[in-house]
Amino acid sequence: MAKIIDNPELAAELISQGEVVAIPTETVYGLAARGDDDNAVTQIFAIKERPQFNPLISHYCSLEAAQADVDINIKVVKLAKHCSPGPLTYILQTRSGCRISTLARANLSTAGIRIPSHALAMRVLESVNFPVVAPSANPSNRLSPVSAEHVDRLLGSKLKYILDGGRSQIGIESTIVDLSQAQTRILREGFITQELIASILEETIYSDMVSDIVAPGMLAKHYSPNYDLILNANPQTQAEALLAFGEAYPTFTKTKNLSPNHSLEEAAANLFSYLHEFEIEGIQSLAVMPIPSQGIGLAINDRLKRAANS
Ligand code: TXA
Ligand code: MG
Repeated sequence: MAKIIDNPELAAELISQGEVVAIPTETVYGLAARGDDDNAVTQIFAIKERPQFNPLISHYCSLEAAQADVDINIKVVKLAKHCSPGPLTYILQTRSGCRISTLARANLSTAGIRIPSHALAMRVLESVNFPVVAPSANPSNRLSPVSAEHVDRLLGSKLKYILDGGRSQIGIESTIVDLSQAQTRILREGFITQELIASILEETIYSDMVSDIVAPGMLAKHYSPNYDLILNANPQTQAEALLAFGEAYPTFTKTKNLSPNHSLEEAAANLFSYLHEFEIEGIQSLAVMPIPSQGIGLAINDRLKRAANS
């Protein structure tokens, strides 16, 4: 079992010394380490069993703190004014002298950067003067964690420290927007929607979530629980339990409701928690009611589709 700590300055100190520490963010928990230290980065890949070709994103307390590593263009300045700190990751061209290890960047000329809004994550980042790489704190292809308990259950045997910051409020990984090319593209849907980004940048934004080349991590199989998922279920779907949205089908005896009141934000916040709970309860199959593909519903359906694809 990992040691649960609650002091962000201690977490920052451990990370400075080259340790890997799981930290809370408003989206999901991350496995944090010095991005400028090959040893620390190597440990992250080993703990997650993550393929080396899948790059990590770097976290900072501000855009200014990132400017030594990446090219701060006008689009990121505009977006950050509205969306950072918050659940948005920017893909940008790296600069010469970029401190982010090439291992962490998987040798790409671009890097993902994010400024998280979680208060404890912010205190960790304000205490250091190097990029902090942090992928989601789950083994590759498993459910993302939204609490310290989830991280401990998934990775406790391989990890020394977890900074406990309570439940992640948003509950779904950050939106990833690629600002490194002339054409802006969304590589991963999240709480920050395509519409919002398009209205801030005043341009048409394309969604390119299925391209395995641009975002190697966006593989179809991802976020899988160890039971079968049946999406867009109807009341007669044969499954052991139901993940409901809105008014639950009465034909199921075991049900968890993502949001009885049809709130997509509430559904996103509950999604990974409920999928973890069903895993702990040991079910074999889960029927999932249809979820509207609008706003953050797009991100929810994206994660569900990947989870069902295993
Ligand atoms: O909400 C989040 O973003 C969380 C928290 C901890 O910050 N982090 C997270 O990291 O979800 P990770 O590694 O699980 O997902 C980041 C994704 C990966 O799929 C990776 O392939 C993609 O970002 N990525 C990283 N660098 C990239 C780059 N230069 N170009 C394209 N995609 C990149
Ligand atoms: Mg991940």
